[in-house]
Amino acid sequence: MNNIISGLRQKACFVIKKSSAVLLPYRSATQELTNKHSTAGLKKWLFIFLASCLWLQNFAQQVTIPIETAGNALILQTDKLNRLGIVYFGKKLSDATEYAAITKQYNTQDDNAGIYNNAYTPSGTWNLVEPAIQITHADGNASLELKYISHNTNRIDDNTTLTSIVLRDPVYAVDVTLFYKTWAKENVVEQWTTIKNNEKKAIQLQKYASANLYFMKNNYYLTHYNGGWGHEMNPETDVLSHGIKSIDTKLGTRANLFEPPTFMVSFNKPATEDEGNVLLGQLAWSGNFKIDFEVDSHNGLRLIAGINPYASAYSLAAAKDFQTPSFIYTFSSNGLGEASRNLHHWAINYRLLDGKGQRLTLLNNWEATYFGFDENKLASLFKGAKDIGVDMFLLDDGWFGNKHPRNADTAGLGDWQENVSKLPHGLGYLVKEAKAAGVKFGIWVEPEMVNPKSELYEKHIDWVLRQPERPETYFRNQLVLDLANPEVQNFVYGILDTIFTKNPELAFVKWDCNAVIYNAYSAYLQKQNLPQSQLYVDYVKGLYKVLERLRAKYPTIPMMLCSGGGGRVDYGALQYFTEFWPSDNTDPMERIFMQWEYSYFYPAIATCNHITDWSKRPLKFRTDVAMMGKMGYDIVVNNLDAKDLQFSKQAVATYNSIKEIIWHGDLYRLVNPKENPLASLMFSSADKSHAVIFNYLVNDRYMMTATPTPIALKGLDANKKYTVKEINVYPGTFPGVNPTKVYSGDFLMTVGINPNVNLGRTSVILEVNEVK
Ligand code: DGJ
Repeated sequence: MNNIISGLRQKACFVIKKSSAVLLPYRSATQELTNKHSTAGLKKWLFIFLASCLWLQNFAQQVTIPIETAGNALILQTDKLNRLGIVYFGKKLSDATEYAAITKQYNTQDDNAGIYNNAYTPSGTWNLVEPAIQITHADGNASLELKYISHNTNRIDDNTTLTSIVLRDPVYAVDVTLFYKTWAKENVVEQWTTIKNNEKKAIQLQKYASANLYFMKNNYYLTHYNGGWGHEMNPETDVLSHGIKSIDTKLGTRANLFEPPTFMVSFNKPATEDEGNVLLGQLAWSGNFKIDFEVDSHNGLRLIAGINPYASAYSLAAAKDFQTPSFIYTFSSNGLGEASRNLHHWAINYRLLDGKGQRLTLLNNWEATYFGFDENKLASLFKGAKDIGVDMFLLDDGWFGNKHPRNADTAGLGDWQENVSKLPHGLGYLVKEAKAAGVKFGIWVEPEMVNPKSELYEKHIDWVLRQPERPETYFRNQLVLDLANPEVQNFVYGILDTIFTKNPELAFVKWDCNAVIYNAYSAYLQKQNLPQSQLYVDYVKGLYKVLERLRAKYPTIPMMLCSGGGGRVDYGALQYFTEFWPSDNTDPMERIFMQWEYSYFYPAIATCNHITDWSKRPLKFRTDVAMMGKMGYDIVVNNLDAKDLQFSKQAVATYNSIKEIIWHGDLYRLVNPKENPLASLMFSSADKSHAVIFNYLVNDRYMMTATPTPIALKGLDANKKYTVKEINVYPGTFPGVNPTKVYSGDFLMTVGINPNVNLGRTSVILEVNEVK
């Protein structure tokens, strides 16, 4: 006891000596306390000390944490109870000291509210709106309070900064750390959270969002997407009214299919390409997500984005932490064009695998053969790939399975051995033959899945997600493997590793994923005594572990992310993939609209567009539409007539001459096909010396002239001189613009140029070149 009193006395002396310099009333207490025989002095001091703690806490200096990019600022600030709130989001102020004055401008005090702007809203204590986090402690208590503890800002390089903020529950031993990674030049923020359990036993995480943002504007316009197989990425815009609107998926694997994790919010009025305040956001997670948009009673917008809490309570063991996926966003006060260019630059420079690199043009055999091929037929197609000049031949589904041959989508999935009657000499032979024909060779896999009619299912039924007591429900005759299980992760890794090891010259992988998670039950979790509610999360974590391992061994091999069309695309997965398949629907008319929408979020280099026979539209139209991304073919080249063949050869050569601008240039959407009979998109080089403009007729009514007026270009230099020529002209037809006329950039951006799109010229590509 004496030791404790003497320890306390020493600490108290120290604190009081320090504080008494500024707090005069403590001096007498200090003097009394230094008298070793005075216990009354110690009591008096303790009383004054506690009172002063409360006083200090009330008047503690607010902590202000700016999260800034070149153009924007998110300002976080503690309140007098030391809770962290968002006091500003938007265009950066030129004088940072003025952020302190922001809160004074709002009259939002209300005994029932005033807490809407929390930076990571807890539940079970003071909060009565949608929480960002909801947990149950080891003792069953479900309350959480989060107070600011500390923060740290670390400049990673000239462009990148990471700020972490530690929040702590003053009663229960739980820490939450908020992370904000910023890329200044691109105005992109990546936000995620870790939750650390310092309690003695496991806690349950019911909701564990990645990010919680707050905006104070007058009106909010949310654009989100819906879709299904063959009609992905249909936009819908809602004016957000009071209450909650959520977008989410519970499909487990193919998160992008019905409701992608991407969205845009315009503030005050709908943003246009060049005007308005707009946020483009995405949860970078390839599984179930939920994004809540709650307009509160002060008309603020609370945004909470994270893993979908649906059936996903996660048990967090003592001393462990849980890291959420990232929420990625960019904000622009100059409209959608700038916002999406920000995202493109960020993706190319920092996120998409090999974003700054090159891509392979290809000929795929899916629509040309479906499952009906053998090695001779394939080898005969290689010549076509070489003839039109693409870089690679891609062998699609149907090459594997012996006991249960993969001759239809009903059998063989999971048995990754070459089918001996179709490919008697194996994949190695095809790689060699392709090389001899002058093209590279790539391959399709769907490694997360299994047909019940397969040897894999027969041998490892415990690796399959299925309800042990119920009949199996299939999606495309298949089931999903249990990627929560490390053995299954090894198996999936092994499929690719074996193929690459045996065929080191293999140049490309198309990674498909055709089924949603029905029958959500993991035999592995059960065996490990872990809750089934971890399945949806552990599945995606398992997938990322496999991809991580693959990328460690095969860092650069190009891989296409495909999911029964465009069922899976997000910046979680795109760290491992070089490109994605937007949709099986390759009708160019449909693709104009889809590719337009995808272009808000993903750069053209990542968007695979193939020329196929899906539609009967003219080959030129199909080709021109495919060119506005990463171009490929899925046709039988031998079936092309002489003119189409000549055109295709020339088209591949033309594409090679302009692909650098499409892949790494700046995208300007000039004319919106949803509001006009025409779509027009332009890519320009960073130095503004070179540009390409794609123009497509989207309304084929009688006498339609899509361009009665010129189209004003963007992204050029007003002071430079340019020529404009039509490229990719079909043999026997004539260009519709004069290639020798020299225009100023000022003219082209103020008056514009007319590509002369009409029923006789349904697609027109123009190339702009600087004249020196
Ligand atoms: C779905 C993909 O989207 C198609 O391109 C094709 O690869 C098939 N799967 C093969 O089964």
